[in-house]
Amino acid sequence: MKANFVVKGNFITSESKISLKTYKDHYLVCEDGVISGIFKALPEQYKNLDIIDYEDKIIISGMTDLHIHAPQYAFRGLGMDLELIDWLNTYTFPEESKYNDLEYAEKAYTSFVKALKNSSSTRACIFATVHNKATYMLMDMLNKSGLITLVGKVNMNRNCPDSLCEKDAQSSIDNTKSWLESISKFENCKPILTPRFTPSCTDDLMQMLGEIRNDLPVQTHLSENLSEIEWVKSLCPEAENYADTYYKANLLGNKSIFAHCVYCTPKEIELLKQTQSYIAHCPQSNMNLASGIAPVRYYLDNDLNIGLGTDIAGGANISMFRAITDAIGMSKLYMRLVDENAKPLSFVESFYLATVGSGSFFGKVGKLEKGYIFDALVLDDSNLDNINELKLTDRLERIAYYLEDRAIYAKYVNGIKI
Ligand code: GUN
Ligand code: FE
Repeated sequence: MKANFVVKGNFITSESKISLKTYKDHYLVCEDGVISGIFKALPEQYKNLDIIDYEDKIIISGMTDLHIHAPQYAFRGLGMDLELIDWLNTYTFPEESKYNDLEYAEKAYTSFVKALKNSSSTRACIFATVHNKATYMLMDMLNKSGLITLVGKVNMNRNCPDSLCEKDAQSSIDNTKSWLESISKFENCKPILTPRFTPSCTDDLMQMLGEIRNDLPVQTHLSENLSEIEWVKSLCPEAENYADTYYKANLLGNKSIFAHCVYCTPKEIELLKQTQSYIAHCPQSNMNLASGIAPVRYYLDNDLNIGLGTDIAGGANISMFRAITDAIGMSKLYMRLVDENAKPLSFVESFYLATVGSGSFFGKVGKLEKGYIFDALVLDDSNLDNINELKLTDRLERIAYYLEDRAIYAKYVNGIKI
């Protein structure tokens, strides 16, 4: 149930890409899930509302994981010795094949949903597997968790083991349609079309997905790994580039998310920008799978829509704090190894990507500001032995680098404490 209430504490929010705004000992008013304002003194009209006092704790906006694979949570932190294609064939596809077994799916998805609920993500865009029944089960669990999520039953009809391969384009579309019908009742968990990536989907399947999408959002992978890109060239010789394989099927736009974009060409970047498509930057995964370093500084400075993802299990860590600090670290390597003029991300910029950058995919999400949906994390750093008196923003940076999700004391999604 959504209630109207007041939260008291120290608030930190992104104000712009390059600035944070802090409010020490302020009152935030939440009405019907939306922030009515942040005040030094509580205005008379709100004096009858319940006040939850978080004392010296730090309250930030919730974060949105723009790219994560639910079925891969079970093997997170394992199999980090291979690059993308071998990693998919050796570890990922065998693991995802297990979700045909609902008993296994229930056990594994229970563990995933619990972890996501306890994590720093308040919202997430999630890949499931090709299986309708297990995907329904995952969505049912997520719906009950109170998190706001988009989940995709994966489409794949080539270059994968029989246990995951849909018979042909038409049967993949039929499966997708019956999945969409089955999950229409969920409030917090909505569907997102999920062609895995071009190597897994024939041209006709891609085309048909574009035809049935209507207003549905879309998520997939793009230009993650050099061998993958060469493979796409040989699979789709008539396509102008990798992004074009999606563009031709009408799958780009401001409701579409492309994970990685490590090696996009200037033409592909222009296409992503023109269509306002989203990039999900997944730094830890790019490191673990030796994929490469994405030009995030360029994307940010050129106003592309970009946010952060954990990409479990390419990434081993479900914490968005880790995604923030890994994005900073990778941008430093980019500056040192690729382009010395590409200034590394600051903490403020990377925090922006995890909150506003990713959150904007869901609308007015990612800031603590009047009119924004109240998604928030209450952070407790009282067990950190801060020897020097720290500013609120310094405390946040230290939490991100050091405590990560262990700092979470309470979590609000859509104006509800979960
Ligand atoms: N490309 C296609 N499938 C996957 C996947 O599961 N993980 C990652 N990181 N890249 C992919
Ligand atoms: Fe991925």
